[in-house]
Amino acid sequence: MGLWLLGRGILIQGFTVQWVTGCLDVVRPAAPLQPMVALPRAPVQVQRPICQAGVQTTLFGHRKPGAWEGCYSLVKTLGKGCFGTVHLVKPRDGGEERVVKEVPFKPNMPRESVLREIENMKAMDHPHVLKVFEYYESIGKICMVLEACKGGELQDLIAAHARSGLALPERFISEVMGQSLEAISYCHSKNLIHKDLKAENIMLLHQVDIAAGDRPHCIIIDLGLAEMFLPSLPRGKIYGGTKTTMAPEVMFSNFGPKCDVYSLGCILFQLLSGQLPCDPNSADMQRRLQGCRSKAQERGIFLEAKLRGPDWRLVSKASADSQELVRRMMSPQETTRPSCEEALEHRWFQMARGSSAVIPAEQLQALARYRQHSAFQRALMAKVATKMSTAQTADLVAEFKDLSRPSCGSLRTADLQTSFESLGLTPRDAETAVKALDVDGNGCVEFSEFVAACIATSGEWQKKAVKVAWHEFDTVRKGWVENSDMVKMLHLSGLVSANTDADALVRAMDSKGLGRVAFQDFHAYLEHELQLVDKAESVLSEVGQVPASESNHLAARGPVGPPGAEKASTLTLSHRRGITRS
Ligand SMILES: Nc1ncnc2c1ncn2[C@@H]1O[C@H](COP(=O)(O)OP(=O)(O)O)[C@@H](O)[C@H]1O
Ligand SMILES: [Mg+2]
Repeated sequence: MGLWLLGRGILIQGFTVQWVTGCLDVVRPAAPLQPMVALPRAPVQVQRPICQAGVQTTLFGHRKPGAWEGCYSLVKTLGKGCFGTVHLVKPRDGGEERVVKEVPFKPNMPRESVLREIENMKAMDHPHVLKVFEYYESIGKICMVLEACKGGELQDLIAAHARSGLALPERFISEVMGQSLEAISYCHSKNLIHKDLKAENIMLLHQVDIAAGDRPHCIIIDLGLAEMFLPSLPRGKIYGGTKTTMAPEVMFSNFGPKCDVYSLGCILFQLLSGQLPCDPNSADMQRRLQGCRSKAQERGIFLEAKLRGPDWRLVSKASADSQELVRRMMSPQETTRPSCEEALEHRWFQMARGSSAVIPAEQLQALARYRQHSAFQRALMAKVATKMSTAQTADLVAEFKDLSRPSCGSLRTADLQTSFESLGLTPRDAETAVKALDVDGNGCVEFSEFVAACIATSGEWQKKAVKVAWHEFDTVRKGWVENSDMVKMLHLSGLVSANTDADALVRAMDSKGLGRVAFQDFHAYLEHELQLVDKAESVLSEVGQVPASESNHLAARGPVGPPGAEKASTLTLSHRRGITRS
């Protein structure tokens, strides 16, 4: 096998994987990834209090003091890879399991590269891109706390099916490919090229029983080699990735985002045939690679194989549509290869997507209601949204996708504005509702912003979120917090703006006047706010219009009133029909 050993080390069913091989095929730049030109970090992070800035990516993946062992206990070590060790861990105070990826610094993996991987993850807010919750740093290593993908690697699933001799159902494959393309299309829209897409770097959030018709939820992982590009010059220049799935142009260190489409094409080929298109373990490649004396020579052999194309007979049993798509995605010429967005338009995906989604009017109304919430509650829910895992918010993913365009990965505010207006909101109210969702004003409502709004506007979700929110204050789990500490934390966490009367807010929570806020007080306060919004909404739907006094009451309610812009005006909620996405 020599240099090109790619098979799995030990393959254990399900979540426990040992990946000890494959490292030699991975090309990491010898020096830390240094952009040739000053590249922007995306998205631009504006340091504003959360209460004014919606869900900021700065809330994700922050550094925590100490070591992860202080907050989590080890469940088991999942595996050791080229660049570190991955453990399954459990929070010491209960809650969902997480994964800790420990990466020791090495000459080809210096501290800056590891931090860059975290920054890349933090900048991507998408239900199919791995979420980083926090990280710890100690001498010589960084440990990232990540969402646990309990369904294992796509690579293992393909290998298990290939062994059984059964082909994967095309419906399942198209869902996997559709979700991966959506995630990468989103990354490209944020000026990030993944550069190391392969079946080992696509994970499943949950175990799936394919025979029983379970639907997959894919998560793109390993943004360690990802490269940012300038929107004005969408080209990458740093050679890196895995030769087997690497696009030919990456070998020339001059490539665009479409190199990821090539790699996804290789994965599609593998899903359809059970075999890698340019398999270094195949007899043909082994023969060609034998006697290679230099890295350049090896690269040349891979390049030649890619230009020749794979053995298309291996996918001949697949549907005509899937064959056409895989051929286009694996086109060696960048110019003739589709972008992610174009690939997603392919008719093969209609099978998984079905007819165009009908968005229930109730769902839109709930989103429109978000503007009625106080700035404090919106800020709190923004924070809570970043603490919730994709697994916890899985129900919301489908709703989010119904509203967003597959290739966009976020809700366009222009689309939302139109949808709100179709509900009967005046253009001004529709605009206010959109602004409440997209406070940083980047023209998009990202997944976490959507989750924050859903948490705030649904009683059921509030119940789930209130504990998470409380733990932001009661960090030592006493069950209560002194009023003065609560005030300090409100300011420090950015949950209230500098000119907000935080004392009054805390006094309103401490309804019994004991000088401290207990969990029950906090819960009751948030519930009361929710009821106020509900009450206001039912008044609105009854009268179809808000009298001036009512709107003033809404704006002035509570110690921390919502910004003036939130004053409700005319609002008719008579349309109880579904809105079809155009
Ligand atoms: N969040 C996760 N949940 C479960 N397993 C994971 C997770 N992240 C990584 N792994 C496992 O660890 C392996 C290596 O992680 P990865 O981030 O790809 O690091 P490397 O840079 O070493 O390839 C993955 O292929 C997968 O098997
Ligand atoms: Mg990897």
